[in-house]
Amino acid sequence: MKQPSKTVANLKPYFFAGLKSVISDLQEKGVDVIRLDMGSPDLPPASFIIDKLIESAKNPKKHGYSPAGGSPGFLNAVSTYYKRRFDVDIDPKTEALALIGSKEGLFNLNHTFLDPGDWVLLPDPYYPVYLAGAQLADANYHFMPLVKENGFLVDFDAIPEDIATKAKLMWLNYPNNPTGAVADLAFFERAVAFARKFDILIAHDAPYSDLSFDGFEAPSIMEVEGAKDVAVEFNSLSKTYNMAGWRIGMAVGNKEAIRLLANYKSQIDSSIFMPILDAGQAALTADQSWLVERNKIYEKRRDVVYNGLKDCGFEVDLPKAALYLWAKLPPKFGDPVKFCADLLNDTGVSMTPGVVYGPSGKDYIRISIVIPTDRIEEAIGRLQAWIAAQ
Ligand SMILES: Cc1ncc(COP(=O)(O)O)c(C=O)c1O
Repeated sequence: MKQPSKTVANLKPYFFAGLKSVISDLQEKGVDVIRLDMGSPDLPPASFIIDKLIESAKNPKKHGYSPAGGSPGFLNAVSTYYKRRFDVDIDPKTEALALIGSKEGLFNLNHTFLDPGDWVLLPDPYYPVYLAGAQLADANYHFMPLVKENGFLVDFDAIPEDIATKAKLMWLNYPNNPTGAVADLAFFERAVAFARKFDILIAHDAPYSDLSFDGFEAPSIMEVEGAKDVAVEFNSLSKTYNMAGWRIGMAVGNKEAIRLLANYKSQIDSSIFMPILDAGQAALTADQSWLVERNKIYEKRRDVVYNGLKDCGFEVDLPKAALYLWAKLPPKFGDPVKFCADLLNDTGVSMTPGVVYGPSGKDYIRISIVIPTDRIEEAIGRLQAWIAAQ
């Protein structure tokens, strides 16, 4: 066999794929592993969403290929959602696109916009797909460090002018994975002004917009005047509606970016199963009140983790949104990678070392809150006992 692609061969294995085999080994030995590492919601979607899927799947007409880029019903629902949630007008025909989960769109946007050697601005820490997408497009990237002193927000003034001038694409993600940081509208106004100045397309990744606590409501970058000139926003039904396995998301915003991404995707995929689009439409347009109760469950879990970590001497902020706590280890533990490996080995509790999300995560760990509350309590109890015994 001839050599495979050098670019693909150089990709680091996805962290969670490796972790899975370590966890399987422990489970085979009888260890009761508690996973606070992944971001897949444990709760189901509201039953009316599942009912819609079943009803639609029973219709013999719903089993063929569905329209490229999403059904008109789903795209109208995306537009309705943006109007209701953010008071933003989205033209369903030209400014919205259905995605096979937002990860697919995030990845493919790189190939839509980048030629080899082009420059991309990436937050650090980052959702790993931004980096893999840039690498597989043979693009260059510049990290924009997210630091606690700055509320884990991108500091646009710190981006060197020569890099900004040549950059084509900038990734932003608020509410943020992994830091749990949130951005206000003023931040997005600065982002849009920066993108205008340097003629950069902003890709704002916003799957956690509707997972917020303590009354916080995350804004959309699309609320900024003129945002559509320079930005696309990705969103997803995975986290908002507990539909991660269904694979359905959306991109909205800049017409030309949407057109190019739709054209690129139409060469590769054949859209989404129509009953999933129908159920997604129902999720976006029906009564949203169940999300309030769901978010209260996350809020309680967040508090359990936050209080437990504080008791153990971690430096951690109480996140207003998303599904993660981003904690700096107490000084007596040097390396978070070793900390997470030892903790898993000794207690069966799995947390993610921050460096998985980029060099700026090297002193941190990420703890997610997507397992039942009593299991989170059990995990924190094990952590506390383990730390006390060190
Ligand atoms: C920041 C961020 N963006 C995108 C995604 C992907 O979500 P989806 O299920 O829509 O592909 C995730 C999933 O964890 C995420 O954390």
